[in-house]
Amino acid sequence: MVLLLRKMTYFHNKNFLMRKKIVAGNWKMNKVLDEAVALTSELVNMAKDEVRNDAKIILCPPAIYLTTIQKYIENEPNFALAAQNCSDKVSGAFTGEISAQMLQSIGVQYVLIGHSERRQYFNETNALLAEKVNTALANGVSPIFCCGESLEQRQNDDYIGFVKNQLTESLFHLSEEQLKSVVIAYEPIWAIGTGLTASAEQAQDMHAALRAHIASKYGADVADEISILYGGSVTAASAPELFAAPDIDGGLVGGASLKSREFTNIIKAR
Ligand code: PGA
Repeated sequence: MVLLLRKMTYFHNKNFLMRKKIVAGNWKMNKVLDEAVALTSELVNMAKDEVRNDAKIILCPPAIYLTTIQKYIENEPNFALAAQNCSDKVSGAFTGEISAQMLQSIGVQYVLIGHSERRQYFNETNALLAEKVNTALANGVSPIFCCGESLEQRQNDDYIGFVKNQLTESLFHLSEEQLKSVVIAYEPIWAIGTGLTASAEQAQDMHAALRAHIASKYGADVADEISILYGGSVTAASAPELFAAPDIDGGLVGGASLKSREFTNIIKAR
């Protein structure tokens, strides 16, 4: 009877059942080919030996290495690949750009969209990001949609409203089915690459607010299915507390994802 009750609780715990736990490593513009390959092999070996949880591990190498890295992870069910960006255009005369269809054609399952560095240095707006989300989804590539406020915005009363609006303007035109393929990454800009991590409480507050925002448009069942990752100076030391928060479903990790030991420890914290 006790066991049955436990099982029923297990199956009724929708969050546990439905939300993917994800740890993604965003390598940004780092590593030459040999280093990228070495990092991948080390991660695969460490994960085989040490990772006992069901976390999905997503590697986001520079685009030029995607096909190479793919070969190292193709037989590893926990691992997946993400591009760091894609074009908002379908195809054509856009020199230097990479389309979502190209990513799909080489087996890339995810793409980062709207990372704050792209918003800041490449002037990507919420409207442009909505187009990128559309082309990714149209090609079966799941967006990892990044959002987050600057330090200046955080000091303003409505910083939660600012981040909610990023979701509204780039995602809320999607159908329910489309939204379910999106992963959200909350990355406060003041915490990215600065060594300043948001506290688990600050991150949890934002994640809960974003989930409530999604629920207000799509309903609680859909909101409960969306994985919301935290990003911004995540380390093996800060990950356990962050990942234990009820609305934090994993992490998007920059600097610490470049070191196999550190990143594996973060994956183990999930
Ligand atoms: P960081 O980067 O972990 O180095 O702060 C996170 C990110 O930009 O995705």
